[in-house]
Amino acid sequence: MKKHGAIIGLGYSLPENIVHNSDLEKLVDTTDQWIRERTGIKRRRILEREKPSYDMGVKASKQALENAKISSKDIELIIVSTESPDYLTPSMACVIQDKIDAENAAAFDLNAACSGFVYALTVADQFIQTGMYNNILVVACEGLSKVVDWKDRNTCVLFGDGAGACILTPSDNAGIINYDLGADGKKRKAITIPLTHFNEEELFKRNNKREQVIYMQGREVFKFEVTAMTKSVKKLLAEENMSIDEIDWIIPHQANMRIITNSIKKLEFPIEKVVITLDEYGNTSSASIPIAMAEANENGKFKSGDNIVLVGFGGGLTWASTLIKWL
Ligand code: COA
Repeated sequence: MKKHGAIIGLGYSLPENIVHNSDLEKLVDTTDQWIRERTGIKRRRILEREKPSYDMGVKASKQALENAKISSKDIELIIVSTESPDYLTPSMACVIQDKIDAENAAAFDLNAACSGFVYALTVADQFIQTGMYNNILVVACEGLSKVVDWKDRNTCVLFGDGAGACILTPSDNAGIINYDLGADGKKRKAITIPLTHFNEEELFKRNNKREQVIYMQGREVFKFEVTAMTKSVKKLLAEENMSIDEIDWIIPHQANMRIITNSIKKLEFPIEKVVITLDEYGNTSSASIPIAMAEANENGKFKSGDNIVLVGFGGGLTWASTLIKWL
């Protein structure tokens, strides 16, 4: 019988430092009102510059282990989703393996930008289905403040730092039921963070400076994301022969409140059943979905048997959604 990867533990971690929209008014030509109205963001958490981003991933992982009531020695695989790693090598997964004493685990990073956590869950679920591993730690950890251009008002108001983690284990009738993954590399130039290669175009977009900072065509990305979110969720439901009324919660990537409300309206889903953390934490890339899921779980929102849809979209450009039956 087919096994599903079920979530048995969740954790999240956010930096203590809160940056309000009014703080950003001092950095760039913007206003609290513009940011709230155009994005829905009120504040975000920003990691101290000298601290490594992996610290957040370690804290989220330890909380997930406690929540699952298992030992780190029982973890057989660690997958970390990140587009803002501290090092190219070692992977963040290897750093976390060391810091949580999970010496029996294989470990690697995966980068699918803001869709990364759902991609990582899907990969983890494959290992569960084949029977290769029983306890898998999936972490999404992002220190985006380190790659944000703090002089660019088009992007610096959007992002925040944070990490979320979960533990997957095999289950007969609950867990990950289905997924839809996709990418459109032709639109790849809509969001870029160069690392070692800068062509003329990349330099021009960054004021002719070799800077490892985010550049984004906001409007282009916005349109893609509304379409991707709507299509992907509809595809999942069609494959499972389910109607939207059978879904209890949707946890979308937290990029922009207008992206969420436009897509939710197209899906004809009640906004009260959408988990939102965007106002408090901003866009934490791939960490936004597990942070929202862990916080909602902590607040007792989910009950056994709930059908929960996670849907991510972003750089690449990529999208990913999954349907989970809550354990
Ligand atoms: N404060 C004030 N004005 C701003 C601003 C800011 N922080 N950022 C942009 N503007 C200005 C623009 O310069 C533009 O001015 P102009 O008309 O004089 O040129 C005006 O606001 C409208 O810009 P536009 O880009 O059309 O705004 P928008 O309503 O599309 O909102 C985003 C911009 C970035 C918030 C929106 O496009 C978005 O959220 N895109 C997707 C972002 C995303 O999801 N990114 C992460 C990938 S997961």
